[in-house]
Amino acid sequence: MVYLDHAATTPPRPEVLADMTDGFGVLGNASSLHAAGRQARRTVEESRETIAEALGCTPHEVVFTSGGTEADNLAVKGLYWARHARDPARRRVLVSAVEHHAVLDPAHWMADHQGALVEELPVDGYGRLDPGTLRAAIERDPGSVALVSVMWANNEVGTVQPIAELAAVAAEYDIWFHTDAVQAVGVEPVDFAASGVSALTLTGHKLGGPVGAGALLLARGVDPVPVLHGGGQEREVRSGTLMTPLLRGFATAVRLAVAERAEHAAELAALRDELVAAVRAAVPDIRLNGHPTERLAGNANIGFPGCEGDALLMLLDAQGICCSTGSACSAGVSQASHVLLAMGADPDTARESLRFSLGRGSTSADVKALAEAIGPAVERARKARARRRS
Ligand SMILES: Cc1ncc(COP(=O)(O)O)c(C=O)c1O
Repeated sequence: MVYLDHAATTPPRPEVLADMTDGFGVLGNASSLHAAGRQARRTVEESRETIAEALGCTPHEVVFTSGGTEADNLAVKGLYWARHARDPARRRVLVSAVEHHAVLDPAHWMADHQGALVEELPVDGYGRLDPGTLRAAIERDPGSVALVSVMWANNEVGTVQPIAELAAVAAEYDIWFHTDAVQAVGVEPVDFAASGVSALTLTGHKLGGPVGAGALLLARGVDPVPVLHGGGQEREVRSGTLMTPLLRGFATAVRLAVAERAEHAAELAALRDELVAAVRAAVPDIRLNGHPTERLAGNANIGFPGCEGDALLMLLDAQGICCSTGSACSAGVSQASHVLLAMGADPDTARESLRFSLGRGSTSADVKALAEAIGPAVERARKARARRRS
């Protein structure tokens, strides 16, 4: 199998698997007072310290969650509720139009059910949000903004946002700024304190850790109203028995991903350029979506004129090549990606794209396999679309 979908999930590293396998054999609930509980607590707190050190925050600022979706929901809902409760005039939630659904959907849910006013801020043709656009949106009525949420890097097209600049704009107006850095940690230099953001989401399974462990980093004084209620295990902000072995693996993955980041990103970028060149040699009229330079090292989102991305995906899958359209498919009808639409593509063009994402273990042999398969697959997909339309 040729796996070119590391942005969807990437395998746990051997060190992580070893840590977790050991951990699953150890009994103890981190909230229990006896020796077994205290041992589990030690593991949890060591994991918290490891993550804090790798990401430039204090251990107290790390709130463990089950992953990115939960952390995003806690940020969007919890920070809105907390800010709105203190100042009822604050009802606006500003998000970029290219956010992941784990941010967009809770934001729109808050609008439908909790009286929030959600504004999707427009991006340019590369998917970047201009800090001036954020400033103008805030300045329309600064005292009414409860929260800003802009992702560090986009999961579909790989575009990296000017996060520190955007966070600085929000800080000028004393507005909390959340960023979903799920795709960025381990590829981009992510330092929580230096970035100036108030809250940051990360997840284990995108950086060599387990599925089911993630975190929301929260700066001092940024306290969301909980979404999950119960034992209050995480600073009363998040309840649920702590998943000790997963957190241990998560921490190891974050530590290694951050330590090896620069070298890994350089390797990925070189392989990504090789992939784009090889695909272009086979299909000369492709388009590379996203920013030409400010993009994730492992991401190549490519438009294939005259093809349905879904059809092309299935044709490549039949050749053992895994990739993604990056967009949702409901009841068999392909939907154009909201990210590409926000970048100015028309629905037909948006449906022509595929995302290839590289990760640890990706090789030139993977690129070669894709290069061999893509030409005939595109030809078949073009014929199929032309037949359907004639
Ligand atoms: C940008 C982004 N945010 C959030 C998520 C959701 O994270 P998780 O799968 O850990 O819930 C993903 C995963 O696809 C993502 O790419």
